Amino acid sequence: MNTSVSTSSSAAAGRPLPCIAVLATGGTIAGSAADAANTAGYQAGVIGVAQLLAAVPGLDAVARIHAEQVASIDSKDMSLALWSTLAQRVNELLASDDIDGVVITHGTDTLEETAYLLQLTVKSAKPCVLTAAMRPATALSADGPLNLLNAVTLAASEAAAGQGVLVAFNNRIHCARDVAKFSTYAVDAFQSPEIGALGWVQDGRVEFQRRALRPHTVDAPFSANVPWPQVEIVTSYAGVSRAAVEALVAAGVDGLVVAGTGNGSIHGALQQALAEAASKGVPVVRASRVGSGHVMHNGAAKDDALGFVSSGTLSPYKSRVLLLLALAAGMTDKASLQHVFDTF
Ligand code: SIN
Repeated sequence: MNTSVSTSSSAAAGRPLPCIAVLATGGTIAGSAADAANTAGYQAGVIGVAQLLAAVPGLDAVARIHAEQVASIDSKDMSLALWSTLAQRVNELLASDDIDGVVITHGTDTLEETAYLLQLTVKSAKPCVLTAAMRPATALSADGPLNLLNAVTLAASEAAAGQGVLVAFNNRIHCARDVAKFSTYAVDAFQSPEIGALGWVQDGRVEFQRRALRPHTVDAPFSANVPWPQVEIVTSYAGVSRAAVEALVAAGVDGLVVAGTGNGSIHGALQQALAEAASKGVPVVRASRVGSGHVMHNGAAKDDALGFVSSGTLSPYKSRVLLLLALAAGMTDKASLQHVFDTF
């Protein structure tokens, strides 16, 4: 569904307001519950983009809005096919002279994966901002409308250009590469562990305190318009067996990420199974389940001897995104993959 562009009367005096495309995909921000006190038992992704926008007073003083309903899902059900569709639509819109920036409304559960996917596949320096909500649209103190207003404010700001894909949530601006969900229920659910947020959006004001250093968007060589490989994640824990790795290799998996313990250490049984997979040509990336910190190359495991790539500061979930994109781009040998993980 497309909603036509509205022009703000407050723009009459000077330059027209920036035109921001709002792409809705569902999530709790578009969730509906039977009563207003209900913040856990609701259906995500049922309220349409026009209604989301109508709930944000003052939006027309910030930007002209072009709205599209790209999907209506609970983001736990995000698919690789929808990633391709979304990245393609963002790229089409940002290539247009009529659009100054994009905002994507998304569920919180896989937002960090989609944000990093777009960070590496959007080919524009124009702002691209994701936002979401922890409380459904029908809730008392719903957080969606202010998050959406802040996201549009950020996407409409010149300061956001060239900063890569951003996440506007609970007044903070996060880098797509760094951000992760850290609470199952709190309104302040997102953090950028170790590194912190890039800045703030509050009361219409955008303030950046730092820039992301890793190459992104126009400087990343990846595309989401690809036949996707199959990349799966396995986890190391007390008493883990070889069964999952053996089954995945037998099923023809194209790449594996291991969510190791601590600094990416891996239970001996699992490590042996992964080393055998690597020796058969299945790329294996070693990440950590801890949620913060980095996984050093040749630190907790002898990566060079075992045939593993170390993830650095990427979580297992973001490591999977990067491995998917790298394999789809034809980068399959260990040296190329380690370079990709050291770079992006
Ligand atoms: C979802 O991820 O779609 C549901 C949960 C949320 O948005 O908070």
